[in-house]
Amino acid sequence: MAKIKTSFFCQNCGAQSPKWLGKCPSCQEWNTIVEEVLQKEPSGTTWKSSSGTSLRANKPQPLAEIQYKETDRISSQDSELDRVLGGGIVPGSLVLIGGEPGIGKSTLMLQIALQLKHLKVLYVSGEESEHQIKMRAERMHMKSSGTYILTETSMQNVFKQIELLEPDLLILDSIQTMHTAHLDAAPGSVSQVRACTAEIMKFAKESGTPVFLIGHITKEGTLAGPKVLEHMVDTVLQFEGDRHLAYRILRTSKNRFGSTSELGIYEMLGNGLRQVSNPSEILISQKDEDLSGVSIGATMEGNRPLLIEVQALVSPATYGTPQRSSTGFDAKRLNMLLAVLEKRGGFKLGSQDVFLNIAGGLKVEDPAIDLAVVAAVVSSYEEKAIAHQICFAAEVGLGGEIRGVNRIDNRISEAEKLGFKTIYVSKFNAKGFDPKRHNIEIKAFGKLEEVFRDLMG
Ligand code: TYD
Ligand code: MG
Repeated sequence: MAKIKTSFFCQNCGAQSPKWLGKCPSCQEWNTIVEEVLQKEPSGTTWKSSSGTSLRANKPQPLAEIQYKETDRISSQDSELDRVLGGGIVPGSLVLIGGEPGIGKSTLMLQIALQLKHLKVLYVSGEESEHQIKMRAERMHMKSSGTYILTETSMQNVFKQIELLEPDLLILDSIQTMHTAHLDAAPGSVSQVRACTAEIMKFAKESGTPVFLIGHITKEGTLAGPKVLEHMVDTVLQFEGDRHLAYRILRTSKNRFGSTSELGIYEMLGNGLRQVSNPSEILISQKDEDLSGVSIGATMEGNRPLLIEVQALVSPATYGTPQRSSTGFDAKRLNMLLAVLEKRGGFKLGSQDVFLNIAGGLKVEDPAIDLAVVAAVVSSYEEKAIAHQICFAAEVGLGGEIRGVNRIDNRISEAEKLGFKTIYVSKFNAKGFDPKRHNIEIKAFGKLEEVFRDLMG
């Protein structure tokens, strides 16, 4: 019997080492080295490589002679996905979609497959049976004409079916369930994931078929499998959101064919995912009366301005150390803003519990919502509501100064579009916009105290 060959791989970065180590010498992570079985024995088919006939023998070509039209992109019939991809699906591209279990990756991809009525789409699932997929399709009430389902986990069998079917688009759900006969390692292990991705990439590039790969996410929130996976694919999309809330965000973290700052928003309904084309409307709760502790901030997600609702609750701490808790906003930044309020605004927050929440389950890193956060906290502390036609777009500095933010013009326009009457900005932003062009009152301030004087009277 042949001796089984094994090697050690870092599950984080994919580095190989001849022996077990506690700490990966390449990425410095602890406890990530795992022994995996490998057996290099070229048997079975990879994509067209066994027969030795590659689809096209590559020769160097002058760049000027390479034909390319922007219209070559295929529209996914989903404006959110198209935008995130940079204007549609690029032929021959390999797109990785990552996300936590149950977030809706399979739903999104099946929906895309069903929407592409004029294309032959092959949906390979290693996770669900045909019946389960059919059930899901039924739930979405969509007629399919060109969607084929294959439940398979062997790459060799998948390639065999691809050669027979010749699909226009391939979806693989998920890369962690696939395995190739060329390696003995278990499916989902780093070497298998890497080998399968390499084979799929070869297929995508040679046949010009776009491929979507679904990938799982580890507890730490990174795509399972090594970083090399992200290097291999053209585009990495993250599907995120709170599983218990309806909104889902599709984000690019790498894109060879477009900007990485784009963002798509969906709502998970009983019959599939709905594209949300005007996100600000849903992120701001529809309330009749003005409540204290609520303020609206104008933030940017990618190139898209978004108005979001910041909610704060400030109440006297009854049990010793006051609690500070924030959802969707950096806790350290909240503490910093509270310290600024205490020192520069004279608010006695040291004896108060402070809870902060960004509505809609969003996570915001944009410092431009600082002023909205501060306003919400003060509004709750003073129990004075902020009129609901007011919104904020400015950063707050340690000295209590109101700092300017980028793309102020876009933020102001979005606020105006949604019917806000007044927006509070930094006076250092004054050069960034032309007040005459806007039909909204723009109040510019340089200090926190001035804002409060104006707001609370
Ligand atoms: P799924 O797409 O299976 O997630 P993933 O592939 O990322 O693990 O998750 C779908 C979740 O969404 C599941 O909990 C049920 C729910 N869902 C809906 O709310 N509406 C629908 O129409 C469908 C198909 C699923
Ligand atoms: Mg799934």
